[in-house]
Amino acid sequence: MGIAGYLALPWKCLVVVALRLLLLVPAGVPARSGESYLKDNITVRQGDSAVLKCNVDSKVSRVAWLNRTTILFTGSEKWSLDPRVILLNNTAVTEYSIKIQNVNLHDEGPYVCSILTNKKPESTKVHLIVQVPARIVNISTDVTVNEGSNVSLMCLAIGRPEPNVVWKHRSASGHKFITEGEFVEMTAITKEQSGVYECISSNDISAPDVRTLQVTVNYPPIISKARSTGTPVGQRGVLQCEASAVPLADFEWYKEDRRLFNGLNGVKIENRGKQSRLIFFNVSEEDYGNYTCVATNILGITNASIILYGPGAIHDVSRAALSIPTSLSFLVTLIALSLHKF
Ligand SMILES: *[C@@H]1O[C@H](CO)[C@@H](O)[C@H](O)[C@H]1NC(C)=O
Ligand SMILES: *[C@@H]1O[C@H](CO)[C@@H](O)[C@H](O)[C@H]1NC(C)=O
Ligand SMILES: *[C@@H]1O[C@H](CO)[C@@H](O)[C@H](O)[C@H]1NC(C)=O
Ligand SMILES: *[C@@H]1O[C@H](CO)[C@@H](O)[C@H](O)[C@H]1NC(C)=O
Ligand SMILES: *[C@@H]1O[C@H](CO)[C@@H](O)[C@H](O)[C@H]1NC(C)=O
Ligand SMILES: *[C@@H]1O[C@H](CO)[C@@H](O)[C@H](O)[C@H]1NC(C)=O
Ligand SMILES: *[C@@H]1O[C@H](CO)[C@@H](O)[C@H](O)[C@H]1NC(C)=O
Ligand SMILES: *[C@@H]1O[C@H](CO)[C@@H](O)[C@H](O)[C@H]1NC(C)=O
Repeated sequence: MGIAGYLALPWKCLVVVALRLLLLVPAGVPARSGESYLKDNITVRQGDSAVLKCNVDSKVSRVAWLNRTTILFTGSEKWSLDPRVILLNNTAVTEYSIKIQNVNLHDEGPYVCSILTNKKPESTKVHLIVQVPARIVNISTDVTVNEGSNVSLMCLAIGRPEPNVVWKHRSASGHKFITEGEFVEMTAITKEQSGVYECISSNDISAPDVRTLQVTVNYPPIISKARSTGTPVGQRGVLQCEASAVPLADFEWYKEDRRLFNGLNGVKIENRGKQSRLIFFNVSEEDYGNYTCVATNILGITNASIILYGPGAIHDVSRAALSIPTSLSFLVTLIALSLHKF
């Protein structure tokens, strides 16, 4: 029976047969019952090679290497079918070392160099520890939610030792630590919590593995700028309205109840991102008055009033009026408008 024949046998049977062949131990006694020396653990990164060293003295008659209870080598004869396991060219007679190439997680465990000296069995045990760089294997996809929703983010990492997972939030206001662990739970999310989330997994075996995902928080429009403007007759006039919203708002302009359209009645409507501009090519008396900018998106609608008024003292009055309550400012504007007319 050749080596292949032995390897085809069930492993338990194989070990017993092998150990008897080696005459290392009496039948029924495990190999480790001999004197054994625990060498330092060998730590190796997945994919690297591990050299398992064994020193023997010249009186040794039989030697073998075992992976747990499976024989890898007896003397210079290879029993393992694994091409990654090789016997080193042990130049010194006192050396009997093997090398495992391209080490993987399954290789982790005890290896035993079994020696028979003057019919007395001894063994040297080394514990192979395999390290695996931290790696993110699954991360939540980008999410888009409405303000107030609950959001769960996940970032699964593997590695040895067990990687540490940390979350950071990147937003306009900076880069902020959020939490530690594979999961992030956000209840009633706010628009300030939108942005890029970074998952950083590390275990000091190699550079951290970093992946990001985008959290988009939808919210209804909020008009942030609606400034009344004074413009003399015969000049180009511009009313500006700005609304922050996600998704971006659509704008409509009204004068009293009448909707204004781009290109009609001497006005142009220019929308750019969060801003809308109502442009008068040539302001006339009839253009003065109260305009409404309406900003809409899927989550809501809001509006703001903007006055186009004439030049002169009115200018200052109207500007002051903007900071006082609407009813009052309405009165002031009425006065301002009538002043202008007469
Ligand atoms: C070797 O590794 C084993 C298993 O991981 C552990 O129990 C033992 O403490 C380690 N010994 C040394 C000397 O590091
Ligand atoms: C051992 O030496 C032989 C001949 O010198 C060479 O062919 C072989 O590649 C060497 N093996 C190792 C593992 O270094
Ligand atoms: C050691 O034994 C384990 C378990 O049987 C096996 O998965 C692994 O491939 C072996 N490694 C070597 C280098 O023989
Ligand atoms: C990632 O995790 C999600 C949720 O548990 C699962 O549905 C998905 O199949 C996983 N993807 C991969 C590539 O494992
Ligand atoms: C969000 O989570 C909170 C607290 O766990 C819960 O009370 C609430 O019902 C959840 N809201 C939704 C929309 O699931
Ligand atoms: C603006 O309109 C007035 C009155 O209709 C006209 O006299 C003037 O030429 C116009 N100005 C421009 C720049 O079109
Ligand atoms: C502006 O908003 C008010 C209050 O929400 C609403 O009553 C009014 O109809 C709106 N105006 C326009 C032109 O949409
Ligand atoms: C402009 O019109 C709106 C409603 O159309 C009104 O609520 C607001 O008070 C008016 N503003 C002024 C200054 O007249």
